[in-house]
Amino acid sequence: MNAINNLKPSREILDPIEVASRDEISALQQKRMAWSLNHAYENSPFYRKRFDENGVHPSDFKTLSDLSKFPFTVKTDLRDCYPFGMFAVPREKLARIHASSGTTGRPTVVGYTKNDIDVWADVMARSIRASGGRAGDICHVAYGYGLFTGGLGAHYGAERLGCTVVPISGGMTERQVTLMSDFKPQIIMVTPSYMLSILDEFRRQGIDPRESSLKVGIFGAEPWTNAMRAEIEDAFDMHAVDIYGLSEIMGPGVANECVETKDGLHVWEDHFYPEIIDPQTGEVLPDGAMGELVFTTLTKEGLPMVRYRTRDLTRILPGTARSMRRIEKITGRSDDMIILRGVNVFPTQIEEMILKCEGLAPHFQIELTRKDRMDVMTVHVECTPDQSSAEARMASAKELAHHIKSVIGVSTKIDIRDPESVARSEGKAKRVVDNRPK
Ligand code: DLL
Repeated sequence: MNAINNLKPSREILDPIEVASRDEISALQQKRMAWSLNHAYENSPFYRKRFDENGVHPSDFKTLSDLSKFPFTVKTDLRDCYPFGMFAVPREKLARIHASSGTTGRPTVVGYTKNDIDVWADVMARSIRASGGRAGDICHVAYGYGLFTGGLGAHYGAERLGCTVVPISGGMTERQVTLMSDFKPQIIMVTPSYMLSILDEFRRQGIDPRESSLKVGIFGAEPWTNAMRAEIEDAFDMHAVDIYGLSEIMGPGVANECVETKDGLHVWEDHFYPEIIDPQTGEVLPDGAMGELVFTTLTKEGLPMVRYRTRDLTRILPGTARSMRRIEKITGRSDDMIILRGVNVFPTQIEEMILKCEGLAPHFQIELTRKDRMDVMTVHVECTPDQSSAEARMASAKELAHHIKSVIGVSTKIDIRDPESVARSEGKAKRVVDNRPK
C-alpha cells in the first residue's frame, strides 16, 4: 500500500479533545448540551412550541441522561418550516445556505453562521487528518459543489488543514483522471460509487491506477461495505477511509474513521451528541445495540438540532484510535430497506455478495417489480470486460443467486449486463429502483 507518513498521528498534531478522557468529554457535552437546548428554546419558535407541547423545558436537563425527555426532530419538520422557519438566528446572521436535492417534495434547507462554518471546517480538517491527510498534501475534491454539502464541506476542511485543494467537483470523469495524472494529489474525496467510475476511466485511458499518486480516499455520502473498501484499496494501492455526515446536522465531518484502525467512524462528540434508538418505539438503546442513529448538535448556532432522527442504522461502539465513541459502518437507511417476502434486505448486503463473485464488476442496481401479487427483486449487475462468454455469465449469475439465497435468505433474479451498461453516478448512487405498482 502507498505509504502514508505517520499513519498514527503524534499526539501533538491532534486536537486535545481527541485524546481527552471519557469524563472530560462527558463534562464538555453536558455543558454544551445545556447551552444548545436553551439556545434552541429561546431563539427558534419551532423548538419553543415543540418543547412546550411536550411539557419539557431546557431547565429539565441536568445530566446527559435527561436528554431522553426531549422530543425528536424529523425530516418533515424541516420541510414544514420551509424555507427559513427553523433557524435560531436572524436570517442576516447566516453566512451560508445548503439544501438537499428534494427529489421527494420540498428541499430541506439548512443554514450556517460564520461560527458554524468555522466549526465545520475544524471537524472536517480533523476528519481528513484522521484519514491520513496532512498539511501540504494536494486534495482532489470530487464531491459535488453547490447546494450539496459534500464539495464545500470537504473544501473548507482541506484548506483548514493546510492542503492544496483542487475543487474539481463531480462529473467530467475523463478530465478528473487527466488532472490527477498531472497534479498528483495524495488525497481524493468523492463518493465510493463515483470512485468506481474514476477507476474505470483510469483503465480506459490505459493508466495503471496502482501507479497513481493517491495515498488515501475519503469516501462517504452513501453506504459502502468493507468488501468495497478492499476492492478500491487493491485497485489503487491506497487507503480507503469512511466519512459520515448529513446536512441537517452539519454536512460531511460528523464522524470519520481513523486510517490506522479502519474499525468504524469516530463521532466528533464534542460537537455532535449521538444516541441509538429503537426505530419503532423511540426508546434509547444501550451502546452496542443496533438501531436508528439520532443526533443533537452541541455548538450549532444557525440551525440547532435536538434529537434529529437520521434513519441511518448502526450501533455505537467504544473509542479505539481516539477516545470519542465510534459508529459501526452504516448498514443502510431504514428508507432503503427492502422487505422481500418478510426478509429485510439492504443494498449493502447485495454489494457484499457481488464482490464475492469472480467475473462481476461492482456496478449494480436493484429493481423491484410485482408479479402475481408477489414482489420480485432483480439485481442488475455488470460482468467484468474479460467475462464475455454466455457460459461464464450464467455461472456468475448462478453463483450470485446462490450467495444471496444462502446468506440473506431470499430468491432473486440476476440480470448480468455488459460492461458500462448499468447507470453510473457522479455523486450518490441510486441503488434501488422501485417499479412496483403503487
Ligand atoms: O451526504 C454529507 C456527506 C457528504 C457525507 C460527503 C460524507 C461525504 P446528505 O446529502 O444530507 O449529506 O445525506 C446524508 O447520506 O443520512 C446517510 O444516509 C448517507 N451517508 C452519508 N455518509 C455516509 C456514510 C451528505 N459514510 C445521508 N455511510 C445520511 C453511509 C452515509 N451512509
